[in-house]
Amino acid sequence: MNETETKLVAAARKAAQEAYAPYSEYQVGSALLFDDGAIITGSNVENASYGLSLCAETVAVSRAFGEGRRGGLEMVAVVGPMDKGDGAPITPCGRCRQILNEIAQLGGTDPVVLCVGNEEVRRVLLSELLPHAFGPAHLT
Ligand code: THU
Repeated sequence: MNETETKLVAAARKAAQEAYAPYSEYQVGSALLFDDGAIITGSNVENASYGLSLCAETVAVSRAFGEGRRGGLEMVAVVGPMDKGDGAPITPCGRCRQILNEIAQLGGTDPVVLCVGNEEVRRVLLSELLPHAFGPAHLT
């Protein structure tokens, strides 16, 4: 990983520590890098009504919108726990792909998503994770 990637993954890892995931005990952190260098993070927030739980990426994108951002998304990092599953890189769930696409398409970017695993960081474009995406451009 280069310096920028390392910094973004570290921010996501730190965010994961703030996750509220008492039900799954699967703590996820996400970090978004914008074209002005800003990094916005999020972690998953679960709910006693399980289906209402929010993923880390969704929380991060919501924060970004709340700060007035409407594009400029260059890179995303997603980090899960190291002691769960098979250690394979974690990829954003389907709903989060769509949510990430909203802010990406608004600014006309196709961010690289760093999917972090125990031994590997997989770099995938959002357009590869969500091909033929429906987005704001369809509505204008
Ligand atoms: N989770 C995320 O936060 N991001 C993902 O991309 C996949 C799943 C969360 C949702 C839930 O709180 C926990 O991980 C287990 O599914």
